Amino acid sequence: MSARRHDRPSTVRVQVCDGCCCGTERKHPGVDHAGIRSRIAAAAEHAGGHVRIVGCVDECSRSNVVIVRPAGRASARAWIGGVLDGRVVEALCEWIRNGATSPAPPEIEPLIFTRTAGTDAAPTPTPVELRVSP
Ligand code: FES
Repeated sequence: MSARRHDRPSTVRVQVCDGCCCGTERKHPGVDHAGIRSRIAAAAEHAGGHVRIVGCVDECSRSNVVIVRPAGRASARAWIGGVLDGRVVEALCEWIRNGATSPAPPEIEPLIFTRTAGTDAAPTPTPVELRVSP
């Protein structure tokens, strides 16, 4: 398989951070973290993509962090912080359900950030067990 083919996944891919801050009741009490993960997983599955739950991606100040790679554009990652409330989650899920190939919806656009830890090259998250089901 060529590197070029690797650069063009046919489906949306999503990484949901679930490390020391993201997804924790300690930092974000009262947030339905399991529900958020499940909704994102269902949206990705609807689009024929998949979700990986990963360990800390070194952007804890922006938790909860989700990284979206649009269908067909592996090198175009959107790093999204503050995925905490229902309005944001719904907009994010709708975007993912459509492959994230269109511009990010207005609820998501202000939450997209340029990675500050290290470079904005490919993230090096540590995969952890998948705990969501669509
Ligand atoms: S726990 Fe998500 S960025 Fe650190």
